[in-house]
Amino acid sequence: MAADSAQLSSQLAEATLNESVSALKAEFSDRVPIRSIISRTDGGSGFAGQHVRVGGWVKTGRKADKDAFAFLELNDGSCPGNLQVIVEADKGDLGQLVPTGTCVVVDGVLKLPPAGAKQKVELRVEKVVHLGPVDPAKYPLPKTKLTLEFLRDVVHLRSRTNTISAVARIRNALAYATHTFFQKHGFLYVHTPIITTSDCEGAGEMFQVTTLISEGERLERELIKNPPPSEADLEAAKLIIKEKGDAVSQLKSAKASKEEIGAAVAELKRAKENDLKLEERSKLQPGIPKKDGKIDYTQDFFARQAFLTVSGQLQVESYACALSSVYTFGPTFRAENSHTSRHLAEFWMVEPELAFAELKDDMNCAEAYVKFLCQWLLDNCYDDMEFISRQFDKTCIDRLKMVASTPFERITYTEAVELLIDAVKNGKKFENHVEWGIDLASEHERFLTEVKFQKPVIVYNYPKGIKAFYMRLNDDNKTVAAMDVLVPKVGELIGGSQREERYDVIHSRIAEMGLPIEPYEWYLDLRRFGTVKHAGFGLGFERMLLFATGLDNIRDVIPFPRYPGRADL
Ligand code: 4AD
Ligand code: MG
Repeated sequence: MAADSAQLSSQLAEATLNESVSALKAEFSDRVPIRSIISRTDGGSGFAGQHVRVGGWVKTGRKADKDAFAFLELNDGSCPGNLQVIVEADKGDLGQLVPTGTCVVVDGVLKLPPAGAKQKVELRVEKVVHLGPVDPAKYPLPKTKLTLEFLRDVVHLRSRTNTISAVARIRNALAYATHTFFQKHGFLYVHTPIITTSDCEGAGEMFQVTTLISEGERLERELIKNPPPSEADLEAAKLIIKEKGDAVSQLKSAKASKEEIGAAVAELKRAKENDLKLEERSKLQPGIPKKDGKIDYTQDFFARQAFLTVSGQLQVESYACALSSVYTFGPTFRAENSHTSRHLAEFWMVEPELAFAELKDDMNCAEAYVKFLCQWLLDNCYDDMEFISRQFDKTCIDRLKMVASTPFERITYTEAVELLIDAVKNGKKFENHVEWGIDLASEHERFLTEVKFQKPVIVYNYPKGIKAFYMRLNDDNKTVAAMDVLVPKVGELIGGSQREERYDVIHSRIAEMGLPIEPYEWYLDLRRFGTVKHAGFGLGFERMLLFATGLDNIRDVIPFPRYPGRADL
Protein backbone atom coordinates (compact mmCIF):
# COMPACT_ATOMS: atom_id res chain seq x y z
CA MET A 1 0.00 0.00 0.00
CA ALA A 2 1.22 3.53 -0.70
CA ALA A 3 1.98 5.76 2.26
CA ASP A 4 -1.29 5.88 4.15
CA SER A 5 -3.14 9.13 4.40
CA ALA A 6 -2.39 9.68 8.09
CA GLN A 7 1.28 9.24 7.41
CA LEU A 8 1.06 11.50 4.38
CA SER A 9 -0.76 14.20 6.36
CA SER A 10 1.92 14.29 8.99
CA GLN A 11 4.58 14.25 6.30
CA LEU A 12 2.91 17.26 4.71
CA ALA A 13 2.50 19.06 8.00
CA GLU A 14 6.16 18.60 8.73
CA ALA A 15 7.27 19.74 5.30
CA THR A 16 9.24 22.90 5.76
CA LEU A 17 9.47 25.67 3.23
CA ASN A 18 12.98 24.57 2.40
CA GLU A 19 12.16 20.95 1.74
CA SER A 20 12.77 19.55 -1.70
CA VAL A 21 9.57 18.61 -3.52
CA SER A 22 11.29 15.73 -5.29
CA ALA A 23 11.72 14.08 -1.88
CA LEU A 24 7.96 13.53 -2.02
CA LYS A 25 8.11 11.54 -5.25
CA ALA A 26 5.51 8.79 -5.44
CA GLU A 27 6.85 5.36 -4.65
CA PHE A 28 7.15 3.05 -7.64
CA SER A 29 6.16 5.80 -10.08
CA ASP A 30 8.19 8.61 -11.60
CA ARG A 31 6.25 11.70 -10.53
CA VAL A 32 5.22 13.66 -7.46
CA PRO A 33 1.58 13.18 -6.38
CA ILE A 34 -0.33 16.45 -6.69
CA ARG A 35 -1.49 15.98 -3.12
CA SER A 36 2.10 16.27 -1.89
CA ILE A 37 2.31 19.70 -3.49
CA ILE A 38 -1.02 21.39 -2.86
CA SER A 39 -2.36 19.74 0.30
CA ARG A 40 0.24 21.29 2.60
CA THR A 41 -0.80 23.98 5.00
CA ASP A 42 0.89 26.56 2.74
CA GLY A 43 -0.92 25.23 -0.34
CA GLY A 44 2.43 24.41 -1.94
CA SER A 45 3.80 27.96 -2.05
CA GLY A 46 6.87 26.82 -0.10
CA PHE A 47 7.93 24.78 -3.10
CA ALA A 48 8.14 27.79 -5.41
CA GLY A 49 11.23 27.68 -7.58
CA GLN A 50 11.57 23.89 -7.44
CA HIS A 51 11.51 21.50 -10.38
CA VAL A 52 8.99 18.69 -10.41
CA ARG A 53 7.38 16.05 -12.63
CA VAL A 54 3.63 15.53 -12.31
CA GLY A 55 1.09 13.46 -14.22
CA GLY A 56 -2.68 13.57 -14.32
CA TRP A 57 -5.83 14.06 -16.34
CA VAL A 58 -7.02 17.48 -17.47
CA LYS A 59 -10.16 18.56 -15.63
CA THR A 60 -10.50 21.77 -17.58
CA GLY A 61 -8.16 23.41 -20.02
CA ARG A 62 -8.25 26.66 -21.93
CA LYS A 63 -6.01 28.54 -24.27
CA ALA A 64 -5.22 32.13 -23.39
CA ASP A 65 -3.48 35.23 -24.67
CA LYS A 66 -4.21 34.51 -28.36
CA ASP A 67 -3.14 30.90 -28.00
CA ALA A 68 0.27 31.89 -26.64
CA PHE A 69 -0.21 29.46 -23.74
CA ALA A 70 -2.78 27.21 -22.07
CA PHE A 71 -4.02 26.77 -18.52
CA LEU A 72 -4.70 23.20 -17.47
CA GLU A 73 -6.36 22.09 -14.24
CA LEU A 74 -4.61 18.79 -13.60
CA ASN A 75 -5.90 16.06 -11.27
CA ASP A 76 -4.18 12.76 -10.49
CA GLY A 77 -6.68 11.36 -7.98
CA SER A 78 -4.34 11.78 -5.02
CA CYS A 79 -6.59 14.51 -3.58
CA PRO A 80 -9.70 16.43 -4.58
CA GLY A 81 -7.68 19.52 -5.59
CA ASN A 82 -6.15 20.25 -8.99
CA LEU A 83 -2.76 21.69 -9.82
CA GLN A 84 -2.81 24.62 -12.22
CA VAL A 85 -0.40 23.95 -15.04
CA ILE A 86 0.69 26.56 -17.57
CA VAL A 87 2.02 25.42 -20.95
CA GLU A 88 3.46 27.81 -23.52
CA ALA A 89 2.74 27.18 -27.18
CA ASP A 90 6.34 26.23 -27.97
CA LYS A 91 6.24 23.40 -25.38
CA GLY A 92 3.38 21.39 -26.88
CA ASP A 93 0.32 21.23 -29.09
CA LEU A 94 -2.06 23.31 -26.98
CA GLY A 95 -5.09 22.15 -28.98
CA GLN A 96 -4.33 18.55 -27.95
CA LEU A 97 -3.56 19.44 -24.34
CA VAL A 98 -6.71 21.32 -23.34
CA PRO A 99 -9.57 18.84 -23.88
CA THR A 100 -11.07 17.47 -20.65
CA GLY A 101 -9.85 13.92 -19.99
CA THR A 102 -6.46 14.30 -21.71
CA CYS A 103 -3.66 12.60 -19.82
CA VAL A 104 -0.42 14.55 -19.46
CA VAL A 105 2.89 14.06 -17.75
CA VAL A 106 4.95 17.24 -17.56
CA ASP A 107 8.23 18.49 -16.14
CA GLY A 108 8.17 22.02 -14.90
CA VAL A 109 9.02 24.56 -12.27
CA LEU A 110 6.67 25.55 -9.46
CA LYS A 111 5.96 29.28 -9.30
CA LEU A 112 3.99 31.62 -7.10
CA PRO A 113 0.91 32.73 -9.05
CA PRO A 114 0.09 36.43 -9.54
CA ALA A 115 -1.29 38.13 -6.43
CA GLY A 116 -5.02 37.54 -5.91
CA ALA A 117 -5.08 34.13 -7.63
CA LYS A 118 -7.08 31.33 -6.00
CA GLN A 119 -4.27 28.78 -6.01
CA LYS A 120 -1.14 29.08 -3.92
CA VAL A 121 1.23 27.60 -6.47
CA GLU A 122 1.23 26.79 -10.18
CA LEU A 123 3.43 24.81 -12.50
CA ARG A 124 5.22 26.34 -15.51
CA VAL A 125 5.86 23.54 -17.96
CA GLU A 126 9.35 23.05 -19.36
CA LYS A 127 8.65 19.78 -21.15
CA VAL A 128 5.61 17.69 -22.04
CA VAL A 129 6.75 14.15 -21.32
CA HIS A 130 3.56 12.27 -22.24
CA LEU A 131 0.27 13.14 -23.84
CA GLY A 132 -2.73 10.76 -23.96
CA PRO A 133 -5.13 12.67 -26.19
CA VAL A 134 -8.93 12.78 -26.11
CA ASP A 135 -11.28 13.51 -28.96
CA PRO A 136 -13.76 15.83 -27.22
CA ALA A 137 -16.47 14.95 -29.74
CA LYS A 138 -16.29 11.33 -28.62
CA TYR A 139 -15.38 11.59 -24.90
CA PRO A 140 -18.40 10.40 -22.89
CA LEU A 141 -17.78 12.81 -19.99
CA PRO A 142 -18.27 16.36 -21.23
CA LYS A 143 -17.19 19.23 -19.02
CA THR A 144 -20.72 20.10 -17.96
CA LYS A 145 -21.93 18.96 -14.55
CA LEU A 146 -23.13 15.38 -14.92
CA THR A 147 -25.73 13.70 -12.75
CA LEU A 148 -24.75 10.63 -10.74
CA GLU A 149 -27.51 8.79 -12.56
CA PHE A 150 -25.96 9.60 -15.94
CA LEU A 151 -22.56 8.46 -14.66
CA ARG A 152 -23.94 4.98 -13.82
CA ASP A 153 -24.01 4.36 -17.55
CA VAL A 154 -20.26 5.01 -17.81
CA VAL A 155 -18.93 3.14 -14.77
CA HIS A 156 -15.59 2.54 -16.48
CA LEU A 157 -14.88 6.28 -16.74
CA ARG A 158 -16.81 7.77 -13.85
CA SER A 159 -13.81 7.40 -11.54
CA ARG A 160 -12.47 10.44 -13.45
CA THR A 161 -15.12 12.66 -11.88
CA ASN A 162 -14.64 14.66 -8.69
CA THR A 163 -17.46 12.97 -6.84
CA ILE A 164 -16.71 9.36 -7.67
CA SER A 165 -13.00 9.82 -6.98
CA ALA A 166 -13.76 11.46 -3.62
CA VAL A 167 -16.04 8.53 -2.78
CA ALA A 168 -13.27 6.11 -3.82
CA ARG A 169 -10.81 7.79 -1.44
CA ILE A 170 -13.35 7.81 1.40
CA ARG A 171 -14.13 4.15 0.72
CA ASN A 172 -10.44 3.29 0.79
CA ALA A 173 -10.04 5.18 4.07
CA LEU A 174 -12.96 3.31 5.64
CA ALA A 175 -11.49 -0.05 4.59
CA TYR A 176 -8.13 0.91 6.05
CA ALA A 177 -9.81 2.16 9.22
CA THR A 178 -11.73 -1.12 9.50
CA HIS A 179 -8.59 -3.22 9.48
CA THR A 180 -6.86 -0.75 11.79
CA PHE A 181 -9.71 -0.90 14.32
CA PHE A 182 -9.98 -4.66 14.46
CA GLN A 183 -6.26 -5.31 14.36
CA LYS A 184 -5.76 -2.78 17.14
CA HIS A 185 -8.30 -4.64 19.25
CA GLY A 186 -6.77 -8.07 18.74
CA PHE A 187 -9.15 -9.47 16.11
CA LEU A 188 -7.88 -11.93 13.54
CA TYR A 189 -8.84 -11.38 9.89
CA VAL A 190 -10.40 -14.56 8.47
CA HIS A 191 -11.23 -15.11 4.81
CA THR A 192 -14.60 -16.80 4.64
CA PRO A 193 -15.74 -18.48 1.42
CA ILE A 194 -17.55 -16.66 -1.36
CA ILE A 195 -19.02 -19.92 -2.61
CA THR A 196 -21.04 -21.63 0.08
CA THR A 197 -23.44 -24.47 0.60
CA SER A 198 -25.08 -22.96 3.73
CA ASP A 199 -27.83 -20.32 3.65
CA CYS A 200 -26.91 -18.04 6.56
CA GLU A 201 -29.94 -15.83 6.71
CA GLY A 202 -32.36 -18.59 5.62
CA ALA A 203 -34.14 -16.00 3.52
CA GLY A 204 -33.79 -17.80 0.19
CA GLU A 205 -32.13 -14.86 -1.55
CA MET A 206 -29.09 -16.66 -2.83
CA PHE A 207 -27.49 -16.64 -6.26
CA GLN A 208 -26.80 -20.17 -7.42
CA VAL A 209 -23.34 -21.22 -8.57
CA THR A 210 -23.56 -23.95 -11.18
CA THR A 211 -21.86 -25.18 -14.31
CA LEU A 212 -24.85 -27.33 -15.28
CA ILE A 213 -26.25 -24.65 -17.58
CA SER A 214 -23.04 -23.90 -19.45
CA GLU A 215 -22.22 -27.62 -19.60
CA GLY A 216 -25.72 -28.33 -20.94
CA GLU A 217 -25.30 -25.66 -23.59
CA ARG A 218 -21.86 -26.93 -24.55
CA LEU A 219 -23.24 -30.43 -25.02
CA GLU A 220 -26.13 -29.11 -27.05
CA ARG A 221 -23.73 -27.36 -29.45
CA GLU A 222 -21.51 -30.41 -29.61
CA LEU A 223 -24.41 -32.72 -30.46
CA ILE A 224 -25.56 -30.41 -33.26
CA LYS A 225 -22.06 -30.39 -34.74
CA ASN A 226 -21.50 -34.04 -34.13
CA PRO A 227 -24.92 -35.79 -33.89
CA PRO A 228 -25.29 -38.81 -31.59
CA PRO A 229 -25.31 -42.27 -33.25
CA SER A 230 -28.61 -43.44 -34.70
CA GLU A 231 -30.23 -46.84 -34.04
CA ALA A 232 -28.81 -47.97 -37.40
CA ASP A 233 -25.28 -46.90 -36.34
CA LEU A 234 -25.62 -48.93 -33.15
CA GLU A 235 -26.90 -51.98 -35.04
CA ALA A 236 -24.08 -51.70 -37.57
CA ALA A 237 -21.54 -51.58 -34.71
CA LYS A 238 -23.08 -54.73 -33.18
CA LEU A 239 -22.92 -56.45 -36.57
CA ILE A 240 -19.24 -55.65 -36.87
CA ILE A 241 -18.62 -57.19 -33.43
CA LYS A 242 -20.43 -60.32 -34.56
CA GLU A 243 -18.39 -60.51 -37.80
CA LYS A 244 -15.10 -59.97 -35.96
CA GLY A 245 -16.12 -62.61 -33.37
CA ASP A 246 -16.94 -65.10 -36.13
CA ALA A 247 -13.60 -64.41 -37.79
CA VAL A 248 -11.77 -65.21 -34.54
CA SER A 249 -13.73 -68.49 -34.10
CA GLN A 250 -13.01 -69.53 -37.69
CA LEU A 251 -9.30 -68.85 -37.36
CA LYS A 252 -9.21 -70.80 -34.10
CA SER A 253 -11.01 -73.88 -35.56
CA ALA A 254 -8.78 -73.70 -38.65
CA LYS A 255 -5.81 -73.80 -36.21
CA ALA A 256 -4.45 -70.63 -37.75
CA SER A 257 -1.16 -69.19 -36.55
CA LYS A 258 -0.86 -67.41 -33.19
CA GLU A 259 -0.13 -64.12 -34.98
CA GLU A 260 -3.22 -64.38 -37.21
CA ILE A 261 -5.50 -65.16 -34.27
CA GLY A 262 -3.90 -62.37 -32.20
CA ALA A 263 -4.55 -59.83 -34.97
CA ALA A 264 -8.21 -60.90 -35.29
CA VAL A 265 -8.72 -60.70 -31.51
CA ALA A 266 -7.28 -57.18 -31.51
CA GLU A 267 -9.77 -56.19 -34.24
CA LEU A 268 -12.61 -57.68 -32.21
CA LYS A 269 -11.47 -55.67 -29.16
CA ARG A 270 -11.45 -52.46 -31.19
CA ALA A 271 -14.95 -53.17 -32.51
CA LYS A 272 -16.21 -53.69 -28.95
CA GLU A 273 -14.59 -50.46 -27.76
CA ASN A 274 -16.11 -48.55 -30.64
CA ASP A 275 -19.53 -50.00 -29.81
CA LEU A 276 -19.17 -48.95 -26.16
CA LYS A 277 -18.32 -45.39 -27.19
CA LEU A 278 -21.34 -45.23 -29.49
CA GLU A 279 -23.57 -46.58 -26.72
CA GLU A 280 -22.31 -43.86 -24.35
CA ARG A 281 -22.81 -41.10 -26.89
CA SER A 282 -26.29 -42.34 -27.74
CA LYS A 283 -27.24 -41.80 -24.08
CA LEU A 284 -26.17 -38.12 -24.08
CA GLN A 285 -29.15 -35.82 -23.48
CA PRO A 286 -28.94 -32.14 -24.31
CA GLY A 287 -29.97 -29.73 -21.51
CA ILE A 288 -29.69 -30.01 -17.73
CA PRO A 289 -29.23 -33.53 -16.31
CA LYS A 290 -32.20 -34.86 -14.36
CA LYS A 291 -32.83 -37.78 -12.06
CA ASP A 292 -36.30 -38.82 -10.90
CA GLY A 293 -37.73 -35.67 -12.47
CA LYS A 294 -35.41 -33.36 -10.48
CA ILE A 295 -32.16 -31.62 -11.45
CA ASP A 296 -29.30 -34.01 -10.78
CA TYR A 297 -26.85 -31.89 -8.79
CA THR A 298 -24.52 -34.82 -8.27
CA GLN A 299 -23.41 -34.00 -11.82
CA ASP A 300 -22.80 -30.32 -10.96
CA PHE A 301 -19.31 -28.86 -10.37
CA PHE A 302 -19.36 -29.36 -6.58
CA ALA A 303 -21.53 -32.51 -6.81
CA ARG A 304 -24.15 -30.58 -4.81
CA GLN A 305 -26.05 -27.30 -4.94
CA ALA A 306 -23.85 -24.27 -4.22
CA PHE A 307 -24.45 -20.54 -3.88
CA LEU A 308 -22.76 -17.15 -3.50
CA THR A 309 -22.63 -16.26 0.17
CA VAL A 310 -25.12 -13.84 1.74
CA SER A 311 -22.89 -13.49 4.81
CA GLY A 312 -19.64 -14.95 6.09
CA GLN A 313 -21.06 -15.24 9.59
CA LEU A 314 -21.64 -18.97 9.95
CA GLN A 315 -18.15 -19.83 8.74
CA VAL A 316 -16.48 -17.07 10.75
CA GLU A 317 -18.26 -18.43 13.85
CA SER A 318 -16.25 -21.62 13.46
CA TYR A 319 -13.08 -19.54 13.70
CA ALA A 320 -14.40 -17.48 16.63
CA CYS A 321 -15.04 -20.76 18.44
CA ALA A 322 -11.32 -21.46 18.26
CA LEU A 323 -9.49 -18.15 17.89
CA SER A 324 -11.87 -16.01 20.02
CA SER A 325 -11.99 -12.57 18.37
CA VAL A 326 -12.15 -12.65 14.56
CA TYR A 327 -13.62 -10.70 11.67
CA THR A 328 -14.29 -11.17 8.02
CA PHE A 329 -14.59 -8.42 5.42
CA GLY A 330 -15.64 -9.41 1.96
CA PRO A 331 -18.25 -9.28 -0.75
CA THR A 332 -21.68 -10.75 -0.12
CA PHE A 333 -24.51 -11.36 -2.55
CA ARG A 334 -28.27 -11.18 -2.32
CA ALA A 335 -30.67 -11.95 -5.11
CA GLU A 336 -33.44 -9.81 -3.65
CA ASN A 337 -35.29 -8.05 -6.40
CA SER A 338 -35.33 -4.71 -4.64
CA HIS A 339 -34.85 -1.49 -6.54
CA THR A 340 -34.30 0.72 -3.49
CA SER A 341 -31.50 3.22 -3.06
CA ARG A 342 -30.17 1.14 -0.13
CA HIS A 343 -29.88 -2.34 -1.63
CA LEU A 344 -27.33 -3.90 -3.92
CA ALA A 345 -27.12 -7.43 -5.25
CA GLU A 346 -23.39 -7.41 -4.46
CA PHE A 347 -22.20 -5.49 -1.42
CA TRP A 348 -19.37 -5.67 1.08
CA MET A 349 -19.86 -6.59 4.70
CA VAL A 350 -17.62 -6.30 7.75
CA GLU A 351 -18.45 -9.08 10.18
CA PRO A 352 -16.69 -9.34 13.53
CA GLU A 353 -17.43 -12.34 15.74
CA LEU A 354 -16.48 -12.47 19.41
CA ALA A 355 -16.29 -15.54 21.61
CA PHE A 356 -16.85 -15.11 25.37
CA ALA A 357 -19.19 -12.23 24.55
CA GLU A 358 -22.85 -11.37 25.03
CA LEU A 359 -25.21 -8.95 23.35
CA LYS A 360 -23.96 -6.02 25.40
CA ASP A 361 -20.35 -6.65 24.35
CA ASP A 362 -21.56 -6.86 20.76
CA MET A 363 -23.29 -3.49 21.03
CA ASN A 364 -20.23 -1.95 22.65
CA CYS A 365 -18.03 -3.23 19.86
CA ALA A 366 -20.38 -1.98 17.14
CA GLU A 367 -20.61 1.46 18.72
CA ALA A 368 -16.85 1.77 19.18
CA TYR A 369 -16.24 0.65 15.60
CA VAL A 370 -18.70 3.11 14.01
CA LYS A 371 -17.31 5.94 16.14
CA PHE A 372 -13.78 5.00 15.11
CA LEU A 373 -14.74 5.10 11.42
CA CYS A 374 -16.27 8.57 11.78
CA GLN A 375 -13.26 9.96 13.63
CA TRP A 376 -10.94 8.38 11.06
CA LEU A 377 -12.64 10.24 8.23
CA LEU A 378 -12.42 13.51 10.14
CA ASP A 379 -8.73 12.91 10.76
CA ASN A 380 -7.73 11.55 7.37
CA CYS A 381 -10.24 12.56 4.72
CA TYR A 382 -11.19 16.07 5.63
CA ASP A 383 -10.55 17.55 2.19
CA ASP A 384 -12.79 14.95 0.54
CA MET A 385 -15.43 15.40 3.20
CA GLU A 386 -15.36 19.15 2.60
CA PHE A 387 -15.87 18.56 -1.12
CA ILE A 388 -18.81 16.21 -0.45
CA SER A 389 -20.22 18.70 2.01
CA ARG A 390 -20.11 21.51 -0.58
CA GLN A 391 -21.60 19.40 -3.36
CA PHE A 392 -24.11 17.07 -1.70
CA ASP A 393 -24.77 17.26 1.97
CA LYS A 394 -23.93 20.30 4.07
CA THR A 395 -24.51 18.29 7.24
CA CYS A 396 -22.14 15.38 6.57
CA ILE A 397 -19.16 16.69 8.55
CA ASP A 398 -21.28 17.64 11.53
CA ARG A 399 -22.90 14.23 11.38
CA LEU A 400 -19.50 12.54 11.60
CA LYS A 401 -18.51 14.76 14.52
CA MET A 402 -21.78 14.08 16.31
CA VAL A 403 -21.56 10.30 15.88
CA ALA A 404 -17.89 10.20 16.85
CA SER A 405 -18.63 11.96 20.13
CA THR A 406 -22.18 11.08 21.21
CA PRO A 407 -23.15 7.86 23.02
CA PHE A 408 -25.65 5.85 20.97
CA GLU A 409 -29.19 5.51 22.28
CA ARG A 410 -30.11 1.94 23.20
CA ILE A 411 -33.75 0.83 23.30
CA THR A 412 -35.51 -2.51 23.14
CA TYR A 413 -37.66 -3.39 20.16
CA THR A 414 -40.69 -3.24 22.46
CA GLU A 415 -39.80 0.32 23.50
CA ALA A 416 -39.20 1.24 19.85
CA VAL A 417 -42.66 0.01 18.87
CA GLU A 418 -44.21 1.93 21.78
CA LEU A 419 -42.47 5.11 20.60
CA LEU A 420 -43.70 4.59 17.06
CA ILE A 421 -47.26 3.95 18.23
CA ASP A 422 -47.07 7.16 20.30
CA ALA A 423 -45.84 9.04 17.24
CA VAL A 424 -48.78 7.73 15.19
CA LYS A 425 -51.15 8.85 17.98
CA ASN A 426 -49.60 12.30 17.73
CA GLY A 427 -50.30 12.51 14.03
CA LYS A 428 -47.19 10.98 12.42
CA LYS A 429 -48.13 9.07 9.28
CA PHE A 430 -46.26 5.90 8.28
CA GLU A 431 -46.94 3.86 5.17
CA ASN A 432 -46.47 0.64 7.10
CA HIS A 433 -48.71 -0.23 10.05
CA VAL A 434 -46.98 -0.39 13.44
CA GLU A 435 -47.68 -3.12 15.97
CA TRP A 436 -45.58 -5.43 18.13
CA GLY A 437 -44.25 -8.22 15.93
CA ILE A 438 -43.67 -6.30 12.69
CA ASP A 439 -40.27 -6.01 11.08
CA LEU A 440 -39.39 -2.32 11.38
CA ALA A 441 -39.57 -0.66 7.98
CA SER A 442 -36.98 1.83 6.82
CA GLU A 443 -39.37 4.72 7.52
CA HIS A 444 -39.73 3.57 11.15
CA GLU A 445 -35.99 3.17 11.58
CA ARG A 446 -35.33 6.60 10.16
CA PHE A 447 -37.99 8.19 12.32
CA LEU A 448 -36.31 6.78 15.44
CA THR A 449 -32.79 7.86 14.54
CA GLU A 450 -33.48 11.10 12.62
CA VAL A 451 -36.51 12.56 14.36
CA LYS A 452 -36.94 10.97 17.76
CA PHE A 453 -33.32 10.71 18.96
CA GLN A 454 -31.35 12.55 16.27
CA LYS A 455 -28.39 10.24 16.78
CA PRO A 456 -27.57 6.57 16.25
CA VAL A 457 -29.94 4.20 17.98
CA ILE A 458 -29.37 0.56 18.82
CA VAL A 459 -32.61 -1.40 18.87
CA TYR A 460 -32.31 -4.80 20.57
CA ASN A 461 -34.34 -7.85 21.64
CA TYR A 462 -36.47 -8.35 18.53
CA PRO A 463 -39.40 -10.80 18.23
CA LYS A 464 -37.99 -14.21 17.35
CA GLY A 465 -40.44 -14.61 14.47
CA ILE A 466 -38.77 -11.92 12.35
CA LYS A 467 -35.15 -12.84 12.96
CA ALA A 468 -32.77 -15.58 11.84
CA PHE A 469 -32.55 -19.02 13.45
CA TYR A 470 -29.09 -18.51 14.97
CA MET A 471 -30.02 -15.64 17.30
CA ARG A 472 -30.07 -16.45 21.00
CA LEU A 473 -33.53 -16.98 22.49
CA ASN A 474 -34.22 -14.70 25.45
CA ASP A 475 -35.76 -15.99 28.68
CA ASP A 476 -39.15 -14.51 27.70
CA ASN A 477 -39.25 -17.12 24.88
CA LYS A 478 -40.66 -14.39 22.65
CA THR A 479 -37.64 -12.31 21.73
CA VAL A 480 -34.09 -13.00 20.61
CA ALA A 481 -30.85 -11.22 21.54
CA ALA A 482 -30.63 -9.35 18.23
CA MET A 483 -29.51 -5.78 17.72
CA ASP A 484 -29.67 -3.37 14.80
CA VAL A 485 -27.74 -0.11 14.70
CA LEU A 486 -29.82 2.61 13.05
CA VAL A 487 -28.21 5.82 11.84
CA PRO A 488 -29.49 9.05 10.30
CA LYS A 489 -29.63 9.18 6.49
CA VAL A 490 -29.59 5.39 6.16
CA GLY A 491 -31.65 3.55 8.75
CA GLU A 492 -30.15 0.08 9.36
CA LEU A 493 -26.37 0.20 9.19
CA ILE A 494 -25.60 -2.88 11.28
CA GLY A 495 -27.42 -6.11 12.04
CA GLY A 496 -26.10 -8.43 14.70
CA SER A 497 -26.89 -10.70 17.59
CA GLN A 498 -25.71 -12.94 20.35
CA ARG A 499 -25.66 -16.44 18.86
CA GLU A 500 -27.61 -19.37 20.27
CA GLU A 501 -24.93 -21.49 21.93
CA ARG A 502 -27.27 -24.08 23.52
CA TYR A 503 -27.44 -27.20 21.36
CA ASP A 504 -31.02 -28.21 22.18
CA VAL A 505 -32.38 -24.71 21.71
CA ILE A 506 -30.73 -24.07 18.35
CA HIS A 507 -31.67 -27.54 17.12
CA SER A 508 -35.32 -26.90 17.82
CA ARG A 509 -35.12 -23.35 16.41
CA ILE A 510 -33.85 -24.72 13.08
CA ALA A 511 -36.68 -27.25 13.01
CA GLU A 512 -39.24 -24.66 14.16
CA MET A 513 -38.30 -22.41 11.25
CA GLY A 514 -38.80 -25.24 8.78
CA LEU A 515 -35.13 -25.38 7.80
CA PRO A 516 -33.48 -28.74 7.05
CA ILE A 517 -31.11 -29.92 9.80
CA GLU A 518 -28.62 -31.76 7.59
CA PRO A 519 -26.89 -28.74 6.00
CA TYR A 520 -26.41 -27.22 9.48
CA GLU A 521 -24.89 -30.32 11.12
CA TRP A 522 -21.41 -28.79 10.97
CA TYR A 523 -22.79 -25.61 12.59
CA LEU A 524 -24.40 -27.71 15.33
CA ASP A 525 -20.99 -29.31 15.96
CA LEU A 526 -19.82 -25.92 17.25
CA ARG A 527 -22.47 -26.37 19.97
CA ARG A 528 -21.90 -30.12 20.43
CA PHE A 529 -18.21 -29.70 21.08
CA GLY A 530 -16.88 -26.99 23.40
CA THR A 531 -19.75 -24.56 23.00
CA VAL A 532 -19.25 -20.95 24.09
CA LYS A 533 -21.28 -17.78 24.38
CA HIS A 534 -20.53 -15.66 21.34
CA ALA A 535 -21.86 -12.69 19.43
CA GLY A 536 -21.20 -10.71 16.29
CA PHE A 537 -22.59 -8.31 13.76
CA GLY A 538 -22.45 -7.30 10.13
CA LEU A 539 -21.89 -3.73 8.97
CA GLY A 540 -23.02 -2.98 5.43
CA PHE A 541 -19.95 -1.22 4.06
CA GLU A 542 -21.84 0.73 1.37
CA ARG A 543 -24.43 1.79 3.94
CA MET A 544 -21.55 3.21 5.98
CA LEU A 545 -20.47 5.16 2.89
CA LEU A 546 -24.00 6.47 2.37
CA PHE A 547 -24.06 7.55 5.98
CA ALA A 548 -20.66 9.24 5.79
CA THR A 549 -21.19 11.03 2.49
CA GLY A 550 -24.91 11.70 2.54
CA LEU A 551 -25.13 10.56 -1.07
CA ASP A 552 -28.62 9.37 -1.91
CA ASN A 553 -28.02 6.20 -3.84
CA ILE A 554 -26.01 3.14 -2.84
CA ARG A 555 -25.18 2.55 -6.53
CA ASP A 556 -22.83 5.54 -6.38
CA VAL A 557 -20.70 4.42 -3.44
CA ILE A 558 -19.48 1.10 -4.85
CA PRO A 559 -17.18 1.16 -7.89
CA PHE A 560 -19.17 -1.33 -9.98
CA PRO A 561 -22.74 -1.59 -8.76
CA ARG A 562 -24.78 -4.74 -9.34
CA TYR A 563 -28.55 -4.54 -9.08
CA PRO A 564 -31.53 -6.09 -10.85
CA GLY A 565 -31.00 -5.71 -14.57
CA ARG A 566 -27.46 -4.31 -14.35
CA ALA A 567 -23.98 -5.79 -13.98
CA ASP A 568 -21.75 -3.62 -16.20
CA LEU A 569 -18.15 -4.72 -16.88
O1 4AD B 1 -28.77 -7.62 8.81
P1 4AD B 1 -28.03 -8.52 7.88
O2 4AD B 1 -28.81 -9.34 6.92
O3 4AD B 1 -27.14 -9.44 8.83
C1 4AD B 1 -26.39 -10.50 8.45
O4 4AD B 1 -26.18 -10.86 7.33
C2 4AD B 1 -25.70 -11.16 9.61
N1 4AD B 1 -25.31 -12.49 9.20
C3 4AD B 1 -24.51 -10.33 10.02
C4 4AD B 1 -23.78 -10.89 11.20
O5 4AD B 1 -24.32 -10.94 12.28
N2 4AD B 1 -22.54 -11.29 11.03
O6 4AD B 1 -26.96 -7.68 7.05
C5 4AD B 1 -25.99 -6.89 7.71
C6 4AD B 1 -25.92 -5.52 7.10
C7 4AD B 1 -27.24 -4.75 7.17
O7 4AD B 1 -27.39 -4.13 8.41
C8 4AD B 1 -27.05 -3.75 6.04
O8 4AD B 1 -26.26 -2.65 6.47
C9 4AD B 1 -26.25 -4.53 5.03
O9 4AD B 1 -25.65 -5.61 5.70
N3 4AD B 1 -27.10 -5.05 3.94
C10 4AD B 1 -27.08 -4.59 2.68
N4 4AD B 1 -26.37 -3.61 2.10
C11 4AD B 1 -26.56 -3.38 0.79
N5 4AD B 1 -27.40 -4.09 0.01
C12 4AD B 1 -28.14 -5.10 0.54
N6 4AD B 1 -28.94 -5.82 -0.24
C13 4AD B 1 -27.99 -5.38 1.94
N7 4AD B 1 -28.54 -6.29 2.78
C14 4AD B 1 -27.97 -6.08 3.99
MG1 MG C 1 -30.71 -6.89 9.08
